[in-house]
Amino acid sequence: MNIINLFPLTIIKDKIDMSEQEKLLMIDEIRKMKKDSKNLAYQTKSNSWTGDTQGFEFIHKSKSFEKLFSEIKKRVIAYLNCVEIDEKLVDIYIQRSWATISEGDERIKKHKHFQSHISFAYYLRKNKSDSNLIIFDENYNNEIMPGIFRSENALQKGIVKKMNQFNVTQAIVNVEENDIIVFPSKTIHSTQVSQNNDERISISADIICVAKDSRLLEMGLPPLNEWTKI
Ligand SMILES: [Fe+2]
Repeated sequence: MNIINLFPLTIIKDKIDMSEQEKLLMIDEIRKMKKDSKNLAYQTKSNSWTGDTQGFEFIHKSKSFEKLFSEIKKRVIAYLNCVEIDEKLVDIYIQRSWATISEGDERIKKHKHFQSHISFAYYLRKNKSDSNLIIFDENYNNEIMPGIFRSENALQKGIVKKMNQFNVTQAIVNVEENDIIVFPSKTIHSTQVSQNNDERISISADIICVAKDSRLLEMGLPPLNEWTKI
Protein backbone atom coordinates (compact mmCIF):
# COMPACT_ATOMS: atom_id res chain seq x y z
CA MET A 1 0.00 0.00 0.00
CA ASN A 2 1.24 3.49 -0.81
CA ILE A 3 0.22 6.59 1.10
CA ILE A 4 0.28 9.64 -1.12
CA ASN A 5 0.29 13.07 0.50
CA LEU A 6 -0.86 15.90 -1.75
CA PHE A 7 -1.02 19.70 -1.57
CA PRO A 8 1.41 20.77 1.16
CA LEU A 9 1.56 24.03 3.08
CA THR A 10 5.20 25.05 2.86
CA ILE A 11 7.06 27.33 5.22
CA ILE A 12 10.75 28.20 5.16
CA LYS A 13 12.99 28.26 8.21
CA ASP A 14 16.44 29.77 8.07
CA LYS A 15 18.95 31.64 10.24
CA ILE A 16 19.96 35.27 9.93
CA ASP A 17 23.17 35.94 11.81
CA MET A 18 23.47 39.57 12.76
CA SER A 19 26.27 40.79 15.02
CA GLU A 20 25.50 41.31 18.72
CA GLN A 21 26.00 45.03 18.22
CA GLU A 22 23.53 45.19 15.31
CA LYS A 23 21.02 43.23 17.34
CA LEU A 24 21.39 45.43 20.40
CA LEU A 25 20.79 48.51 18.29
CA MET A 26 17.52 47.04 17.01
CA ILE A 27 16.50 45.81 20.47
CA ASP A 28 17.09 49.25 21.99
CA GLU A 29 15.05 50.90 19.27
CA ILE A 30 12.19 48.45 19.82
CA ARG A 31 12.26 48.98 23.59
CA LYS A 32 12.01 52.71 22.93
CA MET A 33 9.00 52.14 20.64
CA LYS A 34 7.29 50.22 23.42
CA LYS A 35 7.98 53.06 25.86
CA ASP A 36 6.50 55.53 23.35
CA SER A 37 3.38 53.44 22.61
CA LYS A 38 0.56 55.51 21.15
CA ASN A 39 -2.41 53.29 21.94
CA LEU A 40 -1.74 51.27 25.09
CA ALA A 41 -5.46 50.78 25.75
CA TYR A 42 -5.44 48.48 22.70
CA GLN A 43 -3.04 46.06 24.38
CA THR A 44 -5.31 44.08 26.66
CA LYS A 45 -4.00 41.86 29.45
CA SER A 46 -2.30 38.68 28.21
CA ASN A 47 -1.79 40.13 24.73
CA SER A 48 1.74 40.80 23.53
CA TRP A 49 2.87 44.30 22.63
CA THR A 50 2.61 44.64 18.84
CA GLY A 51 4.27 47.69 17.33
CA ASP A 52 1.92 47.97 14.36
CA THR A 53 -0.97 48.76 16.73
CA GLN A 54 1.10 51.29 18.69
CA GLY A 55 2.25 53.66 15.94
CA PHE A 56 5.38 51.81 14.78
CA GLU A 57 4.47 50.00 11.59
CA PHE A 58 7.29 50.97 9.22
CA ILE A 59 10.43 49.76 10.95
CA HIS A 60 11.88 48.69 7.58
CA LYS A 61 12.47 52.42 6.96
CA SER A 62 14.74 52.71 9.99
CA LYS A 63 18.50 52.67 9.38
CA SER A 64 19.10 50.17 12.21
CA PHE A 65 16.94 47.58 10.44
CA GLU A 66 18.38 48.07 6.94
CA LYS A 67 20.79 45.12 6.99
CA LEU A 68 18.22 42.78 8.54
CA PHE A 69 15.69 43.58 5.84
CA SER A 70 18.23 43.01 3.07
CA GLU A 71 18.83 39.54 4.56
CA ILE A 72 15.09 38.98 4.85
CA LYS A 73 14.66 39.80 1.16
CA LYS A 74 16.92 36.83 0.30
CA ARG A 75 14.67 34.50 2.30
CA VAL A 76 11.55 35.88 0.62
CA ILE A 77 13.14 35.19 -2.76
CA ALA A 78 14.00 31.68 -1.54
CA TYR A 79 10.29 31.18 -0.82
CA LEU A 80 9.33 32.41 -4.28
CA ASN A 81 11.86 29.99 -5.79
CA CYS A 82 10.43 27.18 -3.72
CA VAL A 83 6.94 27.67 -5.18
CA GLU A 84 8.34 28.45 -8.65
CA ILE A 85 7.31 32.10 -8.84
CA ASP A 86 9.91 33.81 -11.01
CA GLU A 87 11.51 36.53 -8.87
CA LYS A 88 12.69 38.28 -12.05
CA LEU A 89 9.10 38.84 -13.13
CA VAL A 90 7.76 40.32 -9.88
CA ASP A 91 8.54 43.36 -7.77
CA ILE A 92 8.59 42.66 -4.06
CA TYR A 93 7.26 45.34 -1.72
CA ILE A 94 7.28 45.53 2.04
CA GLN A 95 4.10 47.37 2.88
CA ARG A 96 4.54 47.45 6.64
CA SER A 97 6.72 45.93 9.32
CA TRP A 98 6.72 45.91 13.08
CA ALA A 99 8.15 44.36 16.22
CA THR A 100 6.39 42.39 18.94
CA ILE A 101 7.40 41.98 22.57
CA SER A 102 6.03 39.25 24.83
CA GLU A 103 6.50 39.13 28.59
CA GLY A 104 5.32 36.43 31.00
CA ASP A 105 2.08 34.89 29.77
CA GLU A 106 1.50 37.43 27.01
CA ARG A 107 0.70 35.94 23.63
CA ILE A 108 -0.35 36.73 20.09
CA LYS A 109 -3.71 35.16 19.36
CA LYS A 110 -4.69 33.30 16.18
CA HIS A 111 -4.69 35.62 13.20
CA LYS A 112 -3.74 35.91 9.55
CA HIS A 113 -2.36 38.82 7.56
CA PHE A 114 -5.24 39.52 5.20
CA GLN A 115 -3.71 42.35 3.19
CA SER A 116 -0.48 40.75 2.03
CA HIS A 117 0.99 37.77 0.20
CA ILE A 118 4.06 36.66 2.16
CA SER A 119 4.75 37.17 5.85
CA PHE A 120 7.61 36.23 8.13
CA ALA A 121 8.63 36.17 11.75
CA TYR A 122 12.25 36.81 12.67
CA TYR A 123 13.24 36.08 16.25
CA LEU A 124 15.53 38.86 17.40
CA ARG A 125 15.45 37.85 21.06
CA LYS A 126 14.29 34.46 22.20
CA ASN A 127 15.13 32.17 25.10
CA LYS A 128 14.41 28.46 25.21
CA SER A 129 11.36 28.95 27.44
CA ASP A 130 9.80 31.69 25.27
CA SER A 131 6.81 30.74 23.14
CA ASN A 132 7.22 29.11 19.76
CA LEU A 133 5.10 29.65 16.68
CA ILE A 134 1.92 27.70 16.00
CA ILE A 135 0.59 27.23 12.46
CA PHE A 136 -3.02 26.17 11.90
CA ASP A 137 -4.58 24.27 9.03
CA GLU A 138 -7.86 25.50 7.56
CA ASN A 139 -8.42 22.95 4.84
CA TYR A 140 -8.91 19.78 6.93
CA ASN A 141 -8.51 17.68 3.80
CA ASN A 142 -8.45 14.37 5.69
CA GLU A 143 -11.17 15.27 8.20
CA ILE A 144 -13.74 12.75 6.94
CA MET A 145 -15.95 13.27 10.02
CA PRO A 146 -16.36 17.09 10.18
CA GLY A 147 -14.79 18.64 13.28
CA ILE A 148 -13.38 15.42 14.69
CA PHE A 149 -9.70 16.28 14.41
CA ARG A 150 -10.28 19.61 16.15
CA SER A 151 -12.13 18.11 19.10
CA GLU A 152 -10.39 17.50 22.45
CA ASN A 153 -13.37 15.39 23.38
CA ALA A 154 -12.90 13.03 20.42
CA LEU A 155 -9.37 12.37 21.66
CA GLN A 156 -10.49 11.87 25.26
CA LYS A 157 -13.20 9.44 24.22
CA GLY A 158 -10.69 7.60 22.07
CA ILE A 159 -12.63 7.79 18.83
CA VAL A 160 -9.52 9.54 17.53
CA LYS A 161 -6.69 7.35 18.84
CA LYS A 162 -3.94 9.97 18.53
CA MET A 163 -2.92 12.90 16.42
CA ASN A 164 -0.45 12.16 13.63
CA GLN A 165 0.82 13.81 10.49
CA PHE A 166 -2.32 12.81 8.59
CA ASN A 167 -4.91 14.30 10.96
CA VAL A 168 -3.18 17.14 12.78
CA THR A 169 -4.74 20.59 12.34
CA GLN A 170 -2.15 22.65 14.18
CA ALA A 171 1.61 22.35 14.43
CA ILE A 172 4.20 23.90 16.71
CA VAL A 173 7.18 25.30 14.84
CA ASN A 174 10.08 25.39 17.30
CA VAL A 175 12.18 28.48 16.81
CA GLU A 176 15.39 29.84 18.25
CA GLU A 177 16.92 33.29 18.39
CA ASN A 178 18.08 34.40 14.90
CA ASP A 179 15.60 32.08 13.15
CA ILE A 180 13.33 33.40 10.43
CA ILE A 181 10.13 31.68 9.34
CA VAL A 182 8.60 32.65 5.99
CA PHE A 183 5.04 31.62 5.21
CA PRO A 184 2.00 32.56 3.11
CA SER A 185 0.22 35.54 4.72
CA LYS A 186 -3.11 33.74 4.52
CA THR A 187 -1.89 31.07 6.95
CA ILE A 188 -3.45 31.27 10.42
CA HIS A 189 -0.82 31.47 13.13
CA SER A 190 -0.35 32.39 16.77
CA THR A 191 2.24 32.15 19.49
CA GLN A 192 2.29 29.17 21.82
CA VAL A 193 0.77 29.68 25.27
CA SER A 194 3.64 30.09 27.74
CA GLN A 195 4.01 31.50 31.21
CA ASN A 196 7.67 32.22 30.81
CA ASN A 197 8.28 34.77 28.11
CA ASP A 198 11.29 36.83 29.05
CA GLU A 199 11.11 39.79 26.71
CA ARG A 200 10.73 37.67 23.60
CA ILE A 201 11.14 39.99 20.60
CA SER A 202 10.10 39.13 17.07
CA ILE A 203 9.89 41.15 13.88
CA SER A 204 7.25 40.67 11.20
CA ALA A 205 6.26 42.29 7.95
CA ASP A 206 3.69 42.10 5.23
CA ILE A 207 5.05 41.64 1.74
CA ILE A 208 3.33 41.97 -1.62
CA CYS A 209 4.40 40.58 -4.99
CA VAL A 210 3.45 42.71 -7.99
CA ALA A 211 3.83 41.66 -11.62
CA LYS A 212 6.46 43.72 -13.42
CA ASP A 213 4.51 43.35 -16.64
CA SER A 214 0.81 42.52 -16.50
CA ARG A 215 0.15 42.48 -20.23
CA LEU A 216 -1.79 39.30 -21.10
CA LEU A 217 -1.44 38.17 -17.50
CA GLU A 218 -4.79 37.36 -15.92
CA MET A 219 -3.72 36.77 -12.28
CA GLY A 220 -1.49 38.81 -10.01
CA LEU A 221 -1.37 42.49 -9.15
CA PRO A 222 -0.47 44.80 -12.05
CA PRO A 223 2.47 47.23 -11.61
CA LEU A 224 1.83 50.09 -9.20
CA ASN A 225 2.59 52.71 -11.85
CA GLU A 226 -0.49 51.53 -13.76
CA TRP A 227 -2.77 52.17 -10.80
CA THR A 228 -4.90 55.32 -10.86
CA LYS A 229 -6.27 56.84 -7.71
CA ILE A 230 -9.96 57.71 -8.19
FE1 LIG B 1 1.32 37.40 12.47
